[in-house]
Formats: sequence, C-alpha cells, structure tokens
Amino acid sequence: MPDRYAVIGNPISHSKSPQIHAEFALQTCQSLEYSRLLGDLTNFNGDVRQFFANAGRGLNVTVPFKAQAWALADERSPQAELAGAVNTLTQLPNGRLRGDNTDGVGLVRDLSRNHGFELRGAQVLLLGAGGAARGVIQPLLEASVAQLVVANRTAVKAVELAAQFAPIGAVRGCGLEALAGRQFDLIINATSAGLTDAVPAIPAECLTAGGWIYDMLYSDQCTAFQRWGQTHGAARALDGLGMLVEQAAESFWLWRGVRPDTAPIITQLRGTAAAGSRG
Ligand code: ATR
Repeated sequence: MPDRYAVIGNPISHSKSPQIHAEFALQTCQSLEYSRLLGDLTNFNGDVRQFFANAGRGLNVTVPFKAQAWALADERSPQAELAGAVNTLTQLPNGRLRGDNTDGVGLVRDLSRNHGFELRGAQVLLLGAGGAARGVIQPLLEASVAQLVVANRTAVKAVELAAQFAPIGAVRGCGLEALAGRQFDLIINATSAGLTDAVPAIPAECLTAGGWIYDMLYSDQCTAFQRWGQTHGAARALDGLGMLVEQAAESFWLWRGVRPDTAPIITQLRGTAAAGSRG
C-alpha cells in the first residue's frame, strides 16, 4: 500500500494539490497516493481523525479549515503558531499530529527564488488582515524587508494584527485611506476581494515606479489585482500560482524529506489554473 496523503477543504473539487503532489512523487520516485477530501463543515475534526486512523500520513488543509486544523494539532511549528493557521498536518511516529504552515514560505520562495525579487530592504505593503495575510507576515519579516505595512479595509483589524508581530520586525497596521502619499516597492494582495473580481480601494500612487504587485489569488486569466498593477505601472504583476506550488513543495519536503523541483509543475499548471482560486 502506498502512503496516503490528501487535501481537505470545502469546496475541494477545484484543488490543484493532487496534480501537484502526483508530479512531485513521480519526479522524486516516491510511492504515495494523494487525494481530495471534501470536509464536512460541521465535523472537520472527525474527518481528520478518520483519515489518520485509516493509515493516512499527512493532510493539506485549505479553506475554510486552516484555523480548525491549528486548534486540532497536538503540536505546531513556530510559523504555524504565529500564523494561527495550519495548512499541513503530519502524523508523527508517536501518533501525535503536528501542524505546520507552509504558505508564507511558499510566497517568499516564489517571489525571491522564482522571480528574483529582492525582499531585503524593500518597502512592502500587505493588503488584508484575514487568515491569508496573517500566514505570510512572519516569513516576510524574516526576509528582512525594510518595512511591512499591513493595510485593511477595516483598519482596526490591521492595527491589531500588526501589533501581534511587532516584536519580530518592522510592521505596522493601518486603514486603506492612510496609504495616501505612501509608496511601496511591492504590494501583496492577501484580501479575498478578487474572488468577486474586486480590488481593494488603495490610492493610485501607492506603487513606486518600477514596483511589483503580487496577488495571492491565481487564475487562468489575469486577476483583478494583476490588472490593477498593469494599469498602475507595475514592472511585474504576478499571481499566486507559484506560491501554491511552493507551499506544496514545502509540505512534500516535511512529509517525505525530499525537495521536488517546482519549475516544471508551475509551467505545466500555467494555463490550466481554475479561475479565482487560492491554495
Ligand atoms: P482569508 O482567510 O482569505 O484571509 P478572511 O479572513 O475572510 O479570508 O479575510 C478577508 C480579507 O479580505 C479581509 O481583510 C477583508 O477586509 P475586512 O476585514 O475589511 O472585511 C478583505 N476584503 C474582502 N473583500 C474586500 C474588498 N472588496 N475590498 C477590500 N478588502 C476586502
């Protein structure tokens, strides 16, 4: 029997994770099976327990269960602890469940390694103060950005979120209107606005000349925020497909101890990505 893995979410049919992990397994000659699990909205813990009781080895967790996975984990990595969200569950040899969060690492790897963006010393704006934003703050600060501004439609949420991370780096929170007159080298969209083809209401002059934008959503067409970047002079306007593959590679490494090559699968998925999705 090959080792069993799966991604659990609701909805789940759009998930690219089975395809990504199947490619990783082929590439690294690992014998494993990776499937999709439609999680019961009222019985997430039961679904997880059943999966691991039936010889499951690891689970990826996606919307809307990442906070529940955090609560369920018996132990958590420092990243997961701070993120308040778990996207990777692993059953340890002693039967305990370990929770990790590989989203932030995935974003930083895609930006810096795949695209060559120099995070060190950059002025970075992170839009949103929900779970997606929270999950990437620590890795961005650890990449030595000069300053991270977290801006949200509901200002108080950004202020509170930034305050939690202030002990580990230069981060502050504000409302979108407080961005007037500010300029950033990189603007990352971690809001869910794009799911309805909307864009956060940020001032037009926010992006410095030659600056980049990164939308954590991905789509087979340009996302709404990528289009915002293109019309506001972004040197590069990236979507989150690379982040999706990189967070998967980090999970694969945690489970199997082997690092897959992400470039071929990013190329393969480009053009087949479902509209308006997130990992
Ligand atoms: P996720 O887990 O994807 O982060 P979430 O926790 O529901 O989802 O958070 C959604 C984020 O997108 C929030 O920061 C939300 O802003 P508010 O806190 O003001 O609600 C933001 N968001 C959603 N739609 C938006 C829009 N049209 N414009 C700006 N921000 C939006």
